[in-house]
Amino acid sequence: MAKHALKDEGLWKTRCYIGGEWIAGDEPVEVRDPGKDEALAEVAGGGEKLAANAVDAASDALADWSGRTAEERGAILRKLADAMGEHEDDLGRILTLEHGKPLEEAKGEVRYAASFVSFFAGEATRVYGETIPSSDRDKRLVVFRQPVGVGAGITPWNFPSAMITRKLAPALAVGCTFVLKPSKSTPLSALALAELGERAGIPKGVFNVVVGPSSSEVSQPWLDDARVRKLSFTGSTEVGKKLYEACAGTVKKLSLELGGNAPFLVFDDADLDAAVDGCMKAKFRNAGQSCVAANRILVHSKVHDAFVEKLMAKIKALRAGYGLDADSEVGPLIDQDAVDKVKELLADAKKSGAEVLAGGSELDRKGFFFAPSLVSDVEPSMRIAREEIFGPIASVLRFDDEDEGVAMANDVPFGLASYFYARDLGRVWRVSEALEYGMVGVNTGMISDASAPFGGIKESGLGREGSRHGIDDWTELKYVAMAGIG
Ligand code: SIN
Repeated sequence: MAKHALKDEGLWKTRCYIGGEWIAGDEPVEVRDPGKDEALAEVAGGGEKLAANAVDAASDALADWSGRTAEERGAILRKLADAMGEHEDDLGRILTLEHGKPLEEAKGEVRYAASFVSFFAGEATRVYGETIPSSDRDKRLVVFRQPVGVGAGITPWNFPSAMITRKLAPALAVGCTFVLKPSKSTPLSALALAELGERAGIPKGVFNVVVGPSSSEVSQPWLDDARVRKLSFTGSTEVGKKLYEACAGTVKKLSLELGGNAPFLVFDDADLDAAVDGCMKAKFRNAGQSCVAANRILVHSKVHDAFVEKLMAKIKALRAGYGLDADSEVGPLIDQDAVDKVKELLADAKKSGAEVLAGGSELDRKGFFFAPSLVSDVEPSMRIAREEIFGPIASVLRFDDEDEGVAMANDVPFGLASYFYARDLGRVWRVSEALEYGMVGVNTGMISDASAPFGGIKESGLGREGSRHGIDDWTELKYVAMAGIG
């Protein structure tokens, strides 16, 4: 078996990818396996110079790429999606090694990532314009869409593959070129994607990846460079706000997919077993490290005890373990800071009167494992209800009627995902309309889909990814008034 036990060791890349070349920078980035807390790889990363070279390459490639037909671009993206499918085992393994999530879940993410590529391969040919009836007989008014130009993506470690393709695929489909800074914790999935992109025929300079030990050294040149016309960022609200300000200098287009604090409401008419199943998905997918993870589980007092009992049984049965072990259902957190944060939130909740019904501590083993946990009697004022947990803790609050439940759900500055379980049709409409969130899951704990618009309101961000709306965000409208028609 070869070094990393991949079927195709050519996918293990440890250099930056710029202008179609694998470039070694002089700022090494150590990638660690969070399931073992040990070194996994060293990427020859870089900083300002490589970042600037990447924009040069993307800028040089723009005219040719945007000049190709939508069908040509779509065909290349389709090859990339197929290649991701063919290499799903290897991509999944790389993802598990650098991120920690269980292998089956990692392969699921690879399929999710590939679904953006195939969806936008098709959308490439559906970037339509408009004709507008003119108020002047002599004129014809036409609107068409053009690529914004060079786009930059800054992506997080929690979905090392899917958060890239959700930006890259619409950008490339419409004719933009792209520079990417993946998280320094999980750059290997990004580099494997670049390798597959090259094999699929993405021309030199169209997709560039710069890995760096310092986020600002890579991103600052992109923020300052007027040739970069759009930034798409997924990450914390705190960093998003800084990037928002930093884009003002060159008035870039901006997509921000930021933090969430998702409510998961269980009404008294809900199917409780279905609600428990949905809650397990919405909470424990990715060990809770997702912006759309159920952060506050709000349960009607009439069904509270029955729901908590069922949920506790499921949580206690969850197997946390190393991602490559076949029976692991929940992986580690990304690093010690993440473990410390969940410990801190739990300690604060306990001190303020909440009760831990399952888990509640780190696991006594190598790696950054925290036991799947359940805490009840949480109050809206507690830190665990106000902050994003980003870990495997189900935190349960109580409400007494529909209005109170909705008011509690909306009483945070975030507005990304929300979920609720109810059967009364009137309630389903009322609550769907009243929740101040970009996304609402009704009787489901899984809302992510390449063909649906993903994004938030309030401090959860700007713009949408996925769906036809996700491609619009990579285009500019151009209005042309033609006169002299007669
Ligand atoms: C995220 O946590 O940012 C994305 C999750 C998803 O796409 O489902």
